[in-house]
Amino acid sequence: TKEESRRPQSCRKENRCEKSCSKENSCQEGRSKESCAQEKSSINFFGYRVTTPTYIALEGLEGCGKSTHTKRLGEHLNAVMTREPGGTRIGALLRAILADPENTDLAPRTEALLMAADRAQHMAEVIQPALDRGQHVVSDRSIYSTLAYQGYGRRLGTPDLLNISTWALNGRLPDMVVFISVPTDILNERLAKRDLDRFEREGADFFARINDGFTELREADPDRWIVIDGTVPKDDVEAAIRVAVLDRLN
Ligand code: TMP
Repeated sequence: TKEESRRPQSCRKENRCEKSCSKENSCQEGRSKESCAQEKSSINFFGYRVTTPTYIALEGLEGCGKSTHTKRLGEHLNAVMTREPGGTRIGALLRAILADPENTDLAPRTEALLMAADRAQHMAEVIQPALDRGQHVVSDRSIYSTLAYQGYGRRLGTPDLLNISTWALNGRLPDMVVFISVPTDILNERLAKRDLDRFEREGADFFARINDGFTELREADPDRWIVIDGTVPKDDVEAAIRVAVLDRLN
């Protein structure tokens, strides 16, 4: 269009559809990113565009602000807001075992399997039914917490955990992961004001491994992940998340 031809070259490039950027699947037509995303994420319903229900997970280390921003994004999208572990009645029972600082004898593999059990119940009872009803889902944590905490933090490695969790999810992984990035020294200051659960009592090495894990996971799958600076004021974090998510939804 005339409008497009007026844009500078770099801008036009950025606006190419995603397909044209991926090597395996180059877009012959070179359509705009907008029109491609629209086709991908929407169906026509009597002439109205309906966005495909999307499963969005917020991830990050404790104290990064996930819970606040799950709520804020969820409300903005009129989505089902939920969390792992503990998004169902059964999940709340599992969460109590997982979080209790008295359970110092919980073996790493038991911990991983309890997280997977929570996730299976969560998918069956909350996530899939919401998506089937046509609602977006915004979840505080997901399979990627298992890969980071149990895979890297507990050193169980990621391949088996990915298989177990994918099975628990019946293959339905999050479509989008919003990672709220905050340096660990700032997080430690925030945590100093809280009653600590079993995970939060772990040492700095554990959290350093998890942080590295999250970095590797998002670098391996950049199309799925959005990284947000969590050090700025809450309202700015909220606005950045909203812009990035809406950009991908549309
Ligand atoms: P939360 O305090 O962020 O709600 O999460 C509870 C704790 O559970 C947190 O320390 C991260 C941990 N966790 C895992 O270790 N593996 C998982 O799969 C999930 C979902 C959470």
